[in-house]
Amino acid sequence: MTRRKFLGTTLASGATLVAGGSSIIFTTNSLAVATKAESNSVFRLGGDLPVNRLGFGAMRITGEGIWGWPADRGNALKVLRRAVELGVNLIDTADAYGPETSELLIAEALHPYPKDLVIATKGGLTRPGPGQWVPNGRPEYLTQCVEKSLKRLRVERIDLYQLHRVDPKVPMEESLGAIKKMQEAGKIRHVGLSEVSPEDIDRARKVLPIVSTQNQYNISNRRWENTLVYCEKEGLGFMPWSPIGGNRGLKDNALEAAARDYQASVVQLALAWLLRRSPVMLPIPGTSSIAHLEENMAAAKLKLTAEDWKRVDALTS
Ligand SMILES: NC(=O)c1ccc[n+]([C@@H]2O[C@H](COP(=O)([O-])OP(=O)(O)OC[C@H]3O[C@@H](n4cnc5c(N)ncnc54)[C@H](OP(=O)(O)O)[C@@H]3O)[C@@H](O)[C@H]2O)c1
Repeated sequence: MTRRKFLGTTLASGATLVAGGSSIIFTTNSLAVATKAESNSVFRLGGDLPVNRLGFGAMRITGEGIWGWPADRGNALKVLRRAVELGVNLIDTADAYGPETSELLIAEALHPYPKDLVIATKGGLTRPGPGQWVPNGRPEYLTQCVEKSLKRLRVERIDLYQLHRVDPKVPMEESLGAIKKMQEAGKIRHVGLSEVSPEDIDRARKVLPIVSTQNQYNISNRRWENTLVYCEKEGLGFMPWSPIGGNRGLKDNALEAAARDYQASVVQLALAWLLRRSPVMLPIPGTSSIAHLEENMAAAKLKLTAEDWKRVDALTS
């Protein structure tokens, strides 16, 4: 029996499959829900910070418009705890999410943190109101951002601090200079960027070591392919944001049909495609729903043949 047929049979009977010491529960309709994403392989951020490649984005646990507290705060805490239970040890957040509430919820849910948990936060985008995002890369502002994130997250050092946006009004060297000082003071371990080209990364690396970038990228939007290729060549982590299409989702009939063929959801196919696309890929899908989280984590289990992947890739490339 091929794996594909086996999955189909298992799905139809709603059975439990035990693999690699952890059980995956298949529900009767379409979703495979993992209790642990055991094929979630490891990437070493900056060479010394191992993370399971399928992470979690903590932007969607805030209120509407990424503003304020979520309607159900208890649920947000549960989602964060469940993510860690399912094997997530890379959580992405930012001072701008809420603002502040995403970082505060992470600390409330998970502090004292598991030893291996990497919390990646960001600074450099201000929030005048719901749905509004305005860059501020002034050195004194960023210095203050780092101090405040340390307090909210209740840590002495931030594992990965990312410049949320290069502010067109401030030379990148000045913004990164402030972050470098905080790193030298022991308040930041590694530094990353966001929405940058290979040229931007080269320029940033003249100021300080860069270990990762976070750019919008998914199976249907490969605009930043050049940055991904750069990261692969240089061994930097690439965190695709909107890995499953953001709040609009991935509306693609061909992808939906292919996902059905593989007894997966479109979201699972899209996440599995990302994990397969590159060993430096660190997807950070975001959700406020435990059911969606479980569905997303199960994507690490989806295995297709090389031929099937070729077909999927051709659908959107
Ligand atoms: N660097 C940057 O500039 C930047 C920008 C945006 C985001 N980010 C980071 O990237 C992370 C992910 O980005 P994102 O949240 O925009 O995009 P995403 O992860 O592609 O999509 C999140 C959306 O998909 C829904 N969703 C999640 N799982 C689902 C499932 N299994 N089935 C159906 N819908 C599902 C969520 O709604 P539900 O809550 O209903 O599940 C939410 O609306 C964020 O959390 C944040 O950490 C970074």
